[in-house]
Amino acid sequence: MKAWVCENPIGAHALQWRELPSPPLAAGQIRVRIKTASLNFPDLLIVQNKYQMKPPLPFVPGTEFAGVVSEVSEGVTGFVVGQRVAAFGGLGGFATEVCIPASLAMPLPDAFSFEDAAAFICTYATSHHALIDRGALREGETVLILGAAGGVGTAAIQIAKTLGARVIAAASGDAKCQACLAVGADATINYTTQNLRDALKALTDGRGPDIVYDPVGGDLAEAAFRSIAWRGRYLVVGFAQGQIPALPLNLALLKGASLVGVFWGEFAKREPTHNARMLSELAAWYATGKIKPVLDQVLPLEELPKAFARMASRDVIGKLVLTQV
Ligand SMILES: NC(=O)c1ccc[n+]([C@@H]2O[C@H](COP(=O)([O-])OP(=O)(O)OC[C@H]3O[C@@H](n4cnc5c(N)ncnc54)[C@H](OP(=O)(O)O)[C@@H]3O)[C@@H](O)[C@H]2O)c1
Repeated sequence: MKAWVCENPIGAHALQWRELPSPPLAAGQIRVRIKTASLNFPDLLIVQNKYQMKPPLPFVPGTEFAGVVSEVSEGVTGFVVGQRVAAFGGLGGFATEVCIPASLAMPLPDAFSFEDAAAFICTYATSHHALIDRGALREGETVLILGAAGGVGTAAIQIAKTLGARVIAAASGDAKCQACLAVGADATINYTTQNLRDALKALTDGRGPDIVYDPVGGDLAEAAFRSIAWRGRYLVVGFAQGQIPALPLNLALLKGASLVGVFWGEFAKREPTHNARMLSELAAWYATGKIKPVLDQVLPLEELPKAFARMASRDVIGKLVLTQV
């Protein structure tokens, strides 16, 4: 097999595209011939040794991928050779094959393209868990999505619209705002040229959003929390800006608001049945066209460093996907 190998976690430029022996298939696992993989934020951090999980060296990065089952270990039921699957497996996706626990694989119907499948699980599961399970979003409520043109942001726009919410998408440029409107947002705020609080006041008649979905953190957090509506829910999703904000807790008191943590990976581990039900609902929404991953670029897997460079540039709209024949 071939794989991108990280021997020295000093950045994506140090990854090497190499021939490796096929990994052994352990009990409970399936082998997958990878067709597509996508980039998630942790992929960027893990090859820089900045992620919370630090795998032993060398390792093959790649959190999320889709492909075809090529071997099934004894005792595994529910999967057969030739079956199309997608998985969020933590590691190993930037390669031509990988072995993963069968429990991580999501069977794919024929109509689910490999490109969309590789860009699906992490972003949609995170945003579904955030908005519905943690945020209890109701039809007619207003949701502010920060970093709305990114991976989890575009998924959050589509899920919030599917639930009948009004979506205010906030992002760092006009092109990103335009993209958010095309994905379904009702209104946008360009937070590099507009004051977030003033714009929110104008867009909500001074009431503020019922839910703030925040995968960005940094300076935006306090301004967004100060603007939240009475009984609002502030969803802490991530810190893409690199700075973990601190919030004055009196704001929660004054607005009767909740600060709600979102950690989809841990939820999936602790509540697998609930997670599986959520993924089935998302697959059904995909089948009926209610949601569809926004793909920024689809590049050959050999061009992974180019994809990493684009991700670091902050220009990506939606998801970057790598593909191979
Ligand atoms: N809690 C969970 O369970 C969970 C699950 C998945 C992901 N996450 C987290 O959510 C965050 C977003 O993930 P994603 O996959 O959607 O990433 P992404 O596609 O790269 O989107 C991140 C967005 O953050 C904004 N941003 C602000 N400052 C940035 C900077 N210095 N560098 C890069 N982006 C910056 C960008 O929007 P603007 O340019 O418009 O500001 C960008 O579109 C990450 O922190 C990730 O770890 C959390």
